[in-house]
Amino acid sequence: MSVHKEIKKITVHVLHAMKLRGEKISMLTAYDYSMAKILDAAGVDILLVGDSASNVMAGHETTLPITLDQMIYHAQSVVRAVDRALVVVDLPFGSYQGNPMKALASTIRIMKESGGHAIKLEGGAEVSESITRILSAGVPVMGHLGLTPQSIYKFGTYTVRAKEEEEAEKLIEDALLLQELGCFAIVLEKIPAKLAKKVSEKLLIPTIGIGGGPDTDGQVLVTHDLLGITKDFHPRFLRRYAELFQVIQEAVEKYIIDVKKKDFPNDKEQY
Ligand code: KIV
Repeated sequence: MSVHKEIKKITVHVLHAMKLRGEKISMLTAYDYSMAKILDAAGVDILLVGDSASNVMAGHETTLPITLDQMIYHAQSVVRAVDRALVVVDLPFGSYQGNPMKALASTIRIMKESGGHAIKLEGGAEVSESITRILSAGVPVMGHLGLTPQSIYKFGTYTVRAKEEEEAEKLIEDALLLQELGCFAIVLEKIPAKLAKKVSEKLLIPTIGIGGGPDTDGQVLVTHDLLGITKDFHPRFLRRYAELFQVIQEAVEKYIIDVKKKDFPNDKEQY
């Protein structure tokens, strides 16, 4: 299966068309210019400036500490790199919960200051007013259900969500509500594959899964996990396509040795 590089720009309409014709959607996280350039050149459909930057870029234990200013900085860097992918930016914890006007103000800052194309936020019915406000400003909204890392202290662990009937029913209701409100897609994180399939079949808008099995309309991974830059993270849903921690470490060890033995720079590597 080839990558559709002939599609010049991915829009929310292109994503809907992909769902209609059964073409899977690829999404990856990006937080900086250089990586976003590579991912966009490879033909990924959506780049998510995820609040996982809090873990991956800043080394925090959770996604909660990252600020709106920091998200905007990451999003600006990604947008500068991208020709083709749709750039979706996470609203960070505290920038939208419980106050639709605040949610709109945070979104407007992201759109104006970064040039991103859409925002993502976590939650269902409890954030419906914020979603309506944001959509009324003409900004596409991606939902996020299942394991929502901004609620980690409510959940207590990062284990699979919605295994029980009651939580699964609530998730289905929330997914239908997000679609009715006007969200253009929904991330389904770490839920049983059967449930993800059911939700994906019920919805007209695309679902993007992470740890949700093969039947969502698209897949998303954290790029640093896929590339093996993060080392000590081995959830069952993750497939590593490279071991870059080791590759980079070995390259840097060679450089250090060359410097120490005065082999670098050589005659040709100077002016
Ligand atoms: O922030 C993030 O990386 C995410 C993905 C895991 C979907 O929300």
